[in-house]
Amino acid sequence: MKGIILAGGAGSRLYPVSKIYSKQLTLIYDKPLIYYPLSILMLSNIREILIISNEETIPLYQKLFEDGSDYGIRIEYALQTAPNGIAESFIIGEKFIGSDSVTLILGDNIFYGNIDFIYRAMQKNDGATIFGYRVNDPERYGIVEFDGSGKAISIEEKPKQPRSNFAVPGLYVYDNEVVEISKNIKPSPRGELEITDVNNVYLQNGKLNVEKIGRGVAWLDTGTPESLLQASNFFGVIEDRQGLKVACIEEIAYYKGFIDKENFEKLISKIPNSLYKSYLEKVLKEN
Ligand code: TTP
Repeated sequence: MKGIILAGGAGSRLYPVSKIYSKQLTLIYDKPLIYYPLSILMLSNIREILIISNEETIPLYQKLFEDGSDYGIRIEYALQTAPNGIAESFIIGEKFIGSDSVTLILGDNIFYGNIDFIYRAMQKNDGATIFGYRVNDPERYGIVEFDGSGKAISIEEKPKQPRSNFAVPGLYVYDNEVVEISKNIKPSPRGELEITDVNNVYLQNGKLNVEKIGRGVAWLDTGTPESLLQASNFFGVIEDRQGLKVACIEEIAYYKGFIDKENFEKLISKIPNSLYKSYLEKVLKEN
């Protein structure tokens, strides 16, 4: 299973910071936003990851993660010349995906809680699995409609009259077919290769699973200044209460056995004196 993080985009709702800076690099409490989706892929045991972004931001991600080897993973980078839509990920990533299946996560999507729903999706090796998460404001998302037996029967992008409250989060698990399907869809009226169109092809072929994510999992939005602040507060409260960090990729790499103790020590020694470093030193001592 390969992993892709789509982390470009316009970020227009975050203007003026988006004029000079990528949304995915903004701080969510104590670490850049992109750490959160990256940690989800790592926790799902995905160790080959492609980060897709724009020309200005790729060098910054490279500075952050280099080739990923410090974390026992492999990270490649690829260019999306303009925000042409989420489904373009699979065209840009065709060579990287090769003959594998692929999990795509959007660079601004944060999940917190029990992520077994992702493991379950990754066990299926045929078709596509997307998720449904109950939201209060369905007109802003891709919305999935279920029949009486809980089977998905339609997906609509940003509907004016939503047929349910279940939004499709930016986390998708696909078999290798997704590459060909993405190449064959046409841009929508807003000029994007829509992920909803890809999912609708799987739906028509009877190969789309939609798993509902329960209320015990938090899926946080990070598109607006308010939602960034809410997410920061959310993780500030949790980290302060537990004394444990969320989405700390160094800790996850060690905990998952992607790096051994010696490499973990080396990694810590490269970090300047900070609370982040003290935290990792504590992890090292306690484990
Ligand atoms: P969006 O929320 O659709 O858009 P955005 O981040 O550009 O922000 P705004 O709506 O305020 O202009 O994007 C969701 C995520 O996917 C985000 O992490 C950016 C990324 N993305 C791309 O990298 N390329 C794309 O073509 C699209 C559509 C999104």
